[in-house]
Order: sequence, then C-alpha cells, then structure tokens
Amino acid sequence: MKENTLNRMFLDRFRVGGDTVRYLVPEAGAWRSVSYDEVGRVTREIACGLMSLGLSRGDRVSILCSTRYEWALADIGAVLGGFVTAPIYPSSRPEQAEFILAHCGARLLFVEDEEQHNKIAGALSRLPSLAHVVMLTGDPAGRPATTGIDAIRSAGRDWDAANPGAFESRTDEVGPDDELTITYTSGTTGPPKGVVSRHRNYAFLSTSCLEAIPVLRKGQTMLHFLPLAHTTGRLEHVLSCDVMIISAFARNILTVAEDLGTIRPDIMVSVPRLYEKFYAKVLATVSESGLLKKMLFRWALGVGRRVSRCRQRGETPAGMTALEFFFADRLVFRKLRARLGGRLSFFVSGGAPLSAEIAEFFHAMGVLILEGYGMTENCSVTTVNRVEAFKFGTVGRAMPGTEIGIAADGEILIRGPHVFKEYLGDPAATREAIDADGWLHSGDIGTLDSEGFLRVTDRKKDIIVTSGGKNIAPQNIENLLKNDSFVSQAFVYGDRRKYLTAILTLSPEETLAWAGRRGIAERDLERLSALPEVKAFLQKRVDSVNGQLATFEQVKKFVLLGRDFSQEAGELTPTLKIKRKVVIEKYGSLLDALYERD
Ligand SMILES: Nc1ncnc2c1ncn2[C@@H]1O[C@H](COP(=O)(O)OP(=O)(O)OP(=O)(O)O)[C@@H](O)[C@H]1O
Ligand SMILES: [Mg+2]
Repeated sequence: MKENTLNRMFLDRFRVGGDTVRYLVPEAGAWRSVSYDEVGRVTREIACGLMSLGLSRGDRVSILCSTRYEWALADIGAVLGGFVTAPIYPSSRPEQAEFILAHCGARLLFVEDEEQHNKIAGALSRLPSLAHVVMLTGDPAGRPATTGIDAIRSAGRDWDAANPGAFESRTDEVGPDDELTITYTSGTTGPPKGVVSRHRNYAFLSTSCLEAIPVLRKGQTMLHFLPLAHTTGRLEHVLSCDVMIISAFARNILTVAEDLGTIRPDIMVSVPRLYEKFYAKVLATVSESGLLKKMLFRWALGVGRRVSRCRQRGETPAGMTALEFFFADRLVFRKLRARLGGRLSFFVSGGAPLSAEIAEFFHAMGVLILEGYGMTENCSVTTVNRVEAFKFGTVGRAMPGTEIGIAADGEILIRGPHVFKEYLGDPAATREAIDADGWLHSGDIGTLDSEGFLRVTDRKKDIIVTSGGKNIAPQNIENLLKNDSFVSQAFVYGDRRKYLTAILTLSPEETLAWAGRRGIAERDLERLSALPEVKAFLQKRVDSVNGQLATFEQVKKFVLLGRDFSQEAGELTPTLKIKRKVVIEKYGSLLDALYERD
C-alpha cells in the first residue's frame, strides 16, 4: 500500500477502479457484480450519515454481522468517517455481544438483520453510550433507537450536500497513528481482549503481504468466508482492496465447498478446519469406492507424495516420476482440484496449526497451502511460507519488515510496525505483552531453524507437564490424532498426571461408511460412539498413532464423545479453536475417571 492510512487507500482504489468489479455479492442464486464506483458512493453516504448523527471523530462503531457485502460497506463507511470499528462475531451469544459493546463504549452499532438485533435488544437499556442502532438489512420498524441503512444513507446525502468539502477534510484528517479498529481476540485462553490497532499497522502489513506473496495480482478473485470480526478476515479484506483483487462473498459458511466450484477463486484464506474436513471427505469417498478405484487412488497419492517431496527439495520431477505424475494428475488429482474450483494458485492457512500431513496431501494433488502464523496483536500474520520457499510443518519466515525472536524459555517474540497499540482499558496487560525493547511476547512456544523458518510448538500455558516431569505440547499430539480419518477432533489432557488421556470425536462420513461395511445398523453418531466395537476399533487407530510417539507422549486412554465440540456449546472459538478451560470444566471429570481405574 503506497498510502499510510486506509482512508487514503480506499479513496484511491475507488477512483482508479471506477466501473470495474470490486465485489461479487450473492443474490437470489447468482452473484451480482458491484463496482468500485458504487462502493465509493455508498460508503461516502454512510460516512456522512454517521457524521450527520453528531458522532465525533474517534468514536467507536460496532458491527454485528456475518461475512457479507453489507459488513464491508459498514466498516469502510465508518472508517472513512474517522470512526474506530469494533466488530463482533455473528456467532457471539447475547452476553458476549453485550460485553464488547460495553467494553469499547460503542456509540453506534450496525446490526445485520432482525435475528442479530434480537440478540442485543434486551441489552440496549444497559448500554447508555450506545445511542444508535442501524439495521443493515430487514425492517427496523418498531425497534427502539434503531434506523434502517437506507435512512442513514439518505441523511448522509443531504448532509454531504449541505456541508461541501466536509467529507474530504474528515477522511484526510485521519492520520497513520490514529486508531483504526478494536479487534477482540478469539477468547481461546480467557475472555476476549480488545486489541487496539492503528491505520499504519494494517497499511504496513498489507504491503508486507504483497512483498511476501508477490503472485497476488489485480483482477484475481478471492472467496471470503472467514469472520470479518477476526483479524485474519479483516486483513484479507484490506489486502484485497489494496491489490484490487475481486472479493466474492460465500453465501454462508455451510456453502463454502459449493461456492468454491461456482466462484472458482484464485486465492483463498482459511483456518485449518476446512482443509481437515476436505481431507476427511476425500478419504471417506475413497474408502467407499471399489477396489480398483482404491488402488488407483493409493497409487496416485504415492506418486503425488514423491513429486511433492521432490518439489519440497526445490527440484523439478523428471523422467518416470514426471510421466507417472502426468497420469496421476489426469486420472485423480484434476478431479479433486475441480472440487476446489480448479483455478486456485494456492491456499493460505492460519489461526491454528495445520498438520504437515494434510499440507503434503494437498501438495501431492497439486495445491500448495501456505501456512502462516500470527495473532490479533499483530494484525493476524507475522510469518508465512512463500510460494518459492516453503516447509511443511513450519509457519514460514518472518514477514518482510518484521522480526522474530525466541526468548530463553522458548517463547516466540515478535517485533515490527504491525504490532498493536494497546489492550483497551488494560495498561498492565499491555505492559506485560510489549516489553521495553518493543518485543511482543506471543505466549506461544516455538523454534527457529537455521534458514529462519519458524515452528510453533504450542501455547506456553498449554504445555502439559506430566508427574514424571516431562514437558509435552498437546497440539502436536492432537494433530497427529486428527490425521486419522476417523478422528474429527482431539483434545489431549494430562497435566501433572502420570500419563496422557484424550477426548476424541468421530468423523461422521468415515464412521458411518465403516459401520455400513461392518453391517452395523446404527446410524446415529452419538449411539455409535457408545458401542464397544467402535471403541475397540478406535483403540487400534490410537495405538498406531502411539506407535509414532515416545512412551511418555502416548495417549493411554481416551473417551469417545458422541458429537463434535461446538461454538454453540461455548467449546470452540469463532475461529474453531478448542477452549481448553471450558472443555476441562465440562469433561474433566470424564477424563479424571480414566485415571481412577488404575
Ligand atoms: N499457524 C499457526 N500454528 C499454530 N498456532 C497458531 C497459528 N496461527 C495462529 N496460532 C495461534 O493463534 C493465536 C492467535 O489467535 P487469536 O489472536 O485469534 O486469539 P487467541 O490467542 O486464540 O485467543 P485469546 O488471546 O483470546 O486467548 C496465536 O497466539 C497462536 O497460539
Ligand atoms: Mg492470544
């Protein structure tokens, strides 16, 4: 980004883009093209509409809305007006939404629709700072203090006409050190923290991303479905506008797989869960197919893996291997890639660890996943693998213009212009996070190799110390367990215990297909999980994972849970990470019981 504020960047791209396509918006079974001109016009109306309400520069504006065009309009409109946006996850429960609104002292809230409005309606009387609620879709009639977006836009047009030049001078007043956003952390380790970032943090990182991944180009298409309330979704949105990539919105989180086929994006950013699901699905389909197809798939995967390893060493496959790959690609991989739209240059994964096995599986079929690592406190990314330099199992090298260090106790340290300003209302926590030399203490443990590739081991606080005094990173073992196609989720436990235990959940596709082959009539996953033959079968699979581990790392006993951990039950973050504390509170007694039988 050649500009140092998002305001300048947005206005420049709207002008340059003109009538070319900025967004693809799902509407009535198709995608409507929206031009830069249109976005420029509507966001100006929104910015002026908010100014017409008498809000002051720097006031906080919240957005409670899913990943869709209207979110982008609300965010850009507010930012252009000099306001600070504090988004809320659409999946948040009422009390979580209220917490954020109160914590950041929001003066205005954009709310997606009736359903989201119902979430906060009861809290309005407890939020004296919240003067206005604006509904982005649906009918605001009869809802106190609530206006429709059309009324705001119309007020904005009138205000703009009555105050010539006021919009320009406001957007221009905003400087690089001004606050851009208060982004709440995922809440994996405790209540979410309000991370205050400045314009220059995101402006810097957008430029840095483009340097790290120069294959990003104007006119490519990106499919957005990650929550925009999360820093990764936010950065992705800023970057797409900066580079002038066409942003297509998925219809919703459940249609992503289908929308991939329709939109055929060039780039996609996701959390590992999506890749894990795709992997499990492919394996389940193969296990359902006839012997010939199974053999063909195994052969192709073997060839793909060989080619992948060759490419990982920086070599180009030649001779017989190249020929075999040609056929493997024709017969198997091309079809798999078609399910991903067939046009992807690469995927990006972040937010949680991606297993090296899954990364290699995708690479074998011709799709490179570039894993990155970061946190809300550094606008979501601080290291990333590059198209020309990647190592599976690592999160890549430091972003251009930033530094990575490792503290004496193994903690990953981060320094650079992407590091946040402060935790809102918590100076003590800010001082603890950023030391006097400007290093951000990530709370994660990792190692750097001689070529500068970072490996993230686990969170410092999650490291399990067994009663035998061994330090174990549960994430590694969880990922190994999840590589098994029957295992959907894994949670490893055992701090101050003699050995490790785990909670596992079953992949529905694989398990149901297996049960069918075994002649087990039960189709309900919860009841299936309780069957002794299922437990015995899983035991064998756990045994084989244990075979790859040192004795003290092995999972000696496990509980099969009848359903996946979920966001609704408060067990997962909006980025689908397991909240360990919640899981221990809920299921600790099940796990403790495993030790009692000794
Ligand atoms: N590629 C990755 N591999 C391993 N861990 C990752 C990766 N990317 C991100 N993480 C984890 O995610 C964290 C950042 O996530 P985020 O800022 O969304 O909130 P959180 O740390 O999960 O939640 P909270 O701070 O509220 O507990 C990192 O500190 C790290 O633990
Ligand atoms: Mg964190």
